[in-house]
Amino acid sequence: PKPLTIHKLREMKSNGQPIVMTTAYDYPSARLAEEAGVDIVLVGDSLGNVILNYESTIPVTLDDIVYHARAVARGAMHTFRVADMPFMTYHGSLDETLRHVRRLMQEGHAHAVKMEGGQEIERTVKRIVQAGVPVLGHIGLTPQSIHQLGGYKIQGKDPQSVRRLLDDAKALERAGVFAIVVELMTEEAAERIAREVAIPIIGIGAGRSCDGQLLVYHDLVRYSPDYRGKKFVKTYADVGSLIRDSIARYADEVRTRAFPAEEHVFHAGQDSVKALYG
Ligand code: KIV
Ligand code: NA
Repeated sequence: PKPLTIHKLREMKSNGQPIVMTTAYDYPSARLAEEAGVDIVLVGDSLGNVILNYESTIPVTLDDIVYHARAVARGAMHTFRVADMPFMTYHGSLDETLRHVRRLMQEGHAHAVKMEGGQEIERTVKRIVQAGVPVLGHIGLTPQSIHQLGGYKIQGKDPQSVRRLLDDAKALERAGVFAIVVELMTEEAAERIAREVAIPIIGIGAGRSCDGQLLVYHDLVRYSPDYRGKKFVKTYADVGSLIRDSIARYADEVRTRAFPAEEHVFHAGQDSVKALYG
């Protein structure tokens, strides 16, 4: 199977067929997401939160995303892969920005890049698209601007805020993005955006009217030692507890000498390969 294309994504919007997106950061998460049949995987700078335990995405570097994107490319070979442009990697000169995009595509094997922002990045987005690189927009709660936004606040709660979000979405559409992620906003705001632009709107914490949904991998399977349930997340498993309990049982069995048992040990005269895999 081939990764879907940005043209197929637009068709999915016109056909009312929801787009499924999750994040992935390494080979197993990418491979499992692909086998589960997601449409798009994102190598998100959320890796700073969920696998490095930074307080925000700001410390995440281009090298971090390239490193993780390479692993994701080996796991999700047949899935459309988007890589996040980290904090301040697309606000300098055009040359510098294009160099960063080049690394995500050539070294990280991404099919597209994602950038946070609206009207203020319209020109930059346009130049990247002109270079032949599909760009995914990202508006609403934009974690790289968290200190300017003043915290993880729900966006689009008043008419001026909705107006601004709409203007941002339209600017990005003009600049040529193939879709827009809308994060943490009222359902009403996301519904208007999805209705007023032709490109797919993919929501995370943005309600039911979006053209697709995105959840962070570690949130959706609860792969965290200190999970704090957010209202917009639905957890489909409790992988954190499963891992903790498994390791605790292993520790117990080592201490009581219940592991290893006869079935786990080697003896002279056994065929090596067969012996290794049981
Ligand atoms: O980094 C990420 O995972 C993201 C999504 C949460 C939108 O940008
Ligand atoms: Na991100």
